[in-house]
Order: sequence, then C-alpha cells, then structure tokens
Amino acid sequence: MTRLHNHCLTIQAFLILLLFSSSIASAAIVEHVFHVKNVVVKPLCKEQMVPAVNGSLPGPTINVREGDTLVVHVINNSTYNITIHWHGVFQLKSSWMDGANLISQCPIQPTNNFTYRFDITGQEGTLLWHAHVVNLRATLHGALIIRPRSGRPYPFPKPYKEVPIIFEQWWDIDIGLLGIQPAPVSDAYLINGLAGDSYPCSKNRMFKLKVVQGKTYLLRIINAALNTHLFFKIANHNVTVVALDAIYTTPYLTDVMVLTPGQTIDALLTADQPLGMYHMSITPYTSAIGIPIPTNMTITSLLVYEGAATSSSPALPLMPALNDTPTAHRFSSSITGLAGGPHWKPVPDHVDEKMFITMGLGLDPCPSDTKCIGPVGQRFVGSLNNRTFVNPETVSLQEAYFYDITGVYTDDFPDQPPLIFDYTNFKLRTNSDYKMMFPERKTSVKTLRYNSTVEVVLQNTAIITAESHPMHLHGFNFYVLGYGIGNYDPIHDARKLNLFNPQMHNTVGVPPGGWVVLRFIANNPGVWLFHCHMDAHLPYGIMMAFIVQNGPTPETSLLPPPSNLPQCTRDPTIYESPTTNVDLSY
Ligand code: C2O
Repeated sequence: MTRLHNHCLTIQAFLILLLFSSSIASAAIVEHVFHVKNVVVKPLCKEQMVPAVNGSLPGPTINVREGDTLVVHVINNSTYNITIHWHGVFQLKSSWMDGANLISQCPIQPTNNFTYRFDITGQEGTLLWHAHVVNLRATLHGALIIRPRSGRPYPFPKPYKEVPIIFEQWWDIDIGLLGIQPAPVSDAYLINGLAGDSYPCSKNRMFKLKVVQGKTYLLRIINAALNTHLFFKIANHNVTVVALDAIYTTPYLTDVMVLTPGQTIDALLTADQPLGMYHMSITPYTSAIGIPIPTNMTITSLLVYEGAATSSSPALPLMPALNDTPTAHRFSSSITGLAGGPHWKPVPDHVDEKMFITMGLGLDPCPSDTKCIGPVGQRFVGSLNNRTFVNPETVSLQEAYFYDITGVYTDDFPDQPPLIFDYTNFKLRTNSDYKMMFPERKTSVKTLRYNSTVEVVLQNTAIITAESHPMHLHGFNFYVLGYGIGNYDPIHDARKLNLFNPQMHNTVGVPPGGWVVLRFIANNPGVWLFHCHMDAHLPYGIMMAFIVQNGPTPETSLLPPPSNLPQCTRDPTIYESPTTNVDLSY
C-alpha cells in the first residue's frame, strides 16, 4: 500500500443500547475523517500527482458492523470538486447521503467540507466507497466492510483471517486529463496499490498474502477499476464464493471469478496445497464484439505459504482468454442467493411496474468545430431506451424533487424503447433504424410508488457494438432472476426465471448481446441513479434515475436534507469561503 501521510482518525464510540432497551442489539457510531489532497505517488516509472484520501492508494478501509451509524467528515483540500458514494449501501431514507454528484447532492468544492452520516442496516459483506465525479474514483476509493452484529455468526465457518483485495486501474497521466474524449487506454492495473512484476519499475513491489497451511481466509475482493471487467484466479487453488455485492450466496466452488467494475465478491480460500508460493492473477475480460482486443496482460500478486522456501518459483494460474465470454457468463449466471440466510427476503411474486430497457451505444451529431472519432464522423453516446441522460447543472435532482423546482427534469422515462427491433442483430435498414442510432438527450426520470415491485428486463443492443455493460442501481439490492444471450423472449425465457433463490446484486453485468431480468421493491424513498458502472460510459449517458415516493408514515419518508448540503455554483469566489468547519480536535 502506498501510504504517504496518513492522518486517518478513527473513533468508535460505542452506545450501550442495552441500558435503554430490552433488546440485546448493540450499535456503534463509527467515525472517520477523509482528508482529500493531491499527493505524489509512483506506482510505475513516473511520479504522478493524484487526489487521495489520507494520502493512501487505495484509500482507508472502513470497518463497521451491521446496524452501526457511519459518520465520515470529508475535507476537500484537493483541486477537484468531489462527492463520495457508498457503493451498495442502501441509505434507507437517507438518500441525501448517497454521494451521487448532481443526483443526490452538488459536489463538495475545493476547500469545502461535508459530513456524511447514515445507518448501515440489513446488509453484510464487502462493499466499496468511491468518488462519484467523472474519473476521480480511479484514485479515490477504498473498501467498506460490513460484519454481522456482535454475537451473530457468519453463515459459513469463521475464517482464520480476512483480507481485502482491491483491483485498480492506473493511468500514468494527470488524472484531470482523463475527462478528455476518448479516454486514453490505461497504463496498468494494480492489486492493493501495487503493479507487481508485470511492469518495469514495480518489480519486487507486489502484493503478498502470507498464509498458514491448513487455515481458511476470507478474501474480500473489490473491482475498483474504472472501465474493465477482470478475471481473477489463484494458481492450484479453488475458492468458495459466499457473498456477492454484500449479500450472501449459496457456497459456490470455483477456480475462476469475474468481476465487473463496481462488483465485490467474498470468497473463502483454504491454504490446502503443498508449502510454496502461488500467483494470484487478474486479466481483463474484454467483451466488446468486433473491437480489437488489447495485448495479453496478466497482473499478479502472491500467495506465500509460511515456511515455503523463498527460492521456489511461484506457480502461475492458466488465465481465460481476454474475450472468454462463456467462462464469464458461466461464473456470473451460476451463483444462487442464500435463501433463508441473513437479510434474505423472498422474491415478491407480483409485479407492479414492468419495464423493458434497451441499452447500449449510439451516436450524437458531431459539433461543427470538432473532429469526432465515432462511426460516420459522429461522436459516441450511450442510451437507455433511446434516451441519453443529461446531468442537471444548477441544482441536484434530489433537491429539484424535494423542493419542487420545475424545469430540471421530466418524469417521462419510457417503459419500453420507441421501436421494437432485432436488438442483438442490429442492421441499418430503414429510417427508423437510423433514428435508433441517435438517441434523444434528456434528464428524464421514472417515478415509483412506495413499496411497488419493479421488474426490469435489461436488453443489450448491438448498435455500434455489443459489450457487457455493468448496470448499477443506487439504494437497493435487486434480484437477478435470469441471464441470457440474444433477445429476451417474454414467453419462453420468462418461464425459466429463478423466483426461489436468485442471486442478488447492486451491479450486474448484462452479457454482450444478451439480457438480464431483475426485480426490486421500491421501499426506499428518494432519488436513485441507475447507470452503467464503466466510467468511460458515464459521460455517454447510459444512465437514468428513479424517484421513489414517500410512504404513508414518517418512518417511510425521506429525511429532510442536512443543513450543510453543498450548493452547485460556478462562482469561483466561493472557493475562498468554506461553508462548514469540521472540528478536528477529538
Ligand atoms: Cu459505484 Cu453510481 O456508482
């Protein structure tokens, strides 16, 4: 881990609720300070100035127990506008704290502060936090680990040790330049901040996990890469997946894993092989069809058995090919949810809102004074149901909703695409096909009644190219009832959906030229972003937002906004006057 200046102040103040109630539950307030500053790091051959939290890359790990309250004071001394998103945290009634730039809040400007405060309930496992302003999550991210309440066991044998393993994507340029289109190809991948032997200048700087033979370790694996799905494999070892996106699964034995950007896996690893050293490796999974695949690259870390001879040359895992969609699809679609396990709720069998959403790339007319690199001289955009999402500028979507500010968004996100066509076999034939290539630019949302059940069929299209888009829903876990290749068939495919023990996710990879069916209960009032978690596709507008209305009681309604919510402004003078001051004297 690259640790330069670590001023991490962690305070755990335990509230003994026992005194006040007959329940034996206990909850803590876990408090952190995130100093965001530009620091100099050198994972490859060049020194590079990047924004980092408390000077470390990856950023600090947050440890909580289910039921705790997390308080994070973000002090922005970087040169960037920043928000921090708690990826996968439900934020029940607290969507103001979701950290989605221009959706749940305006950004924290340089020299300003903001305090995130929310409860973490009803979920356990590994998540991540990350900046939610274009590209900054490349260096502003870290693990968020939620353990069971004290006294509650894991639904699997207690591991000997737990280890966060974070995959990162690295550009050896000024991160501020990353916003340029097209985003340049990244220079490296890192495992826990280290590039390892695959790159010059980082030889002998490799993440090493020391293990004791016979013991079992819980790997808390996070794909924090911006734009790349990654295969992960450990030479000579199988692992047992026990959770995905912080929700338990039926134990699933495998030798290979694949994670989309934003996904997490909890997996048990038993050191059951002869004393030795074994590579733990990642390779990109590149699903875009018809796009040239990058040269083969494997990034490794090491599993080192205690007592192994240091001279032994580590075994290498045989990695899947970069475009091995069958392996990726098999892993992703075979895992089932732990029905009846902690926090499990049965799948609702009635559906109130049915949506069919096409997703993929498209084109936008090239502005007259620019040179665009897309097909037919146009520039790329992305769309959902032929809408390209445009961020609001002067106020967040949530404030526009809460304060009834008109003219910011329209409540007309469509339940189906404007045209029914052969989605995964797109050919330009007619004028309306041509129209499907040029989506409409709009800030449109879909409003949901409190507690309604929503089913979404996500259908990937082959417009421009078919590739896996990892779709992430803020504020919820959803059931993934089925995955498939080709066009979704509402009769035959619907019969095969798993309504008994489907896996759950906050981020799901929709297979290239394929579909997924997901279902969720709109039990969390507020404004929630639903978007592709490939950062390169965010400026392309593969996004929309749901607004979940309040329920009938205060307990089912959105809390009022915090008093120090940052304001959107383009006035540079505000940089001189911090709006809040955090007391750091504790
Ligand atoms: Cu992990 Cu909207 O993001």
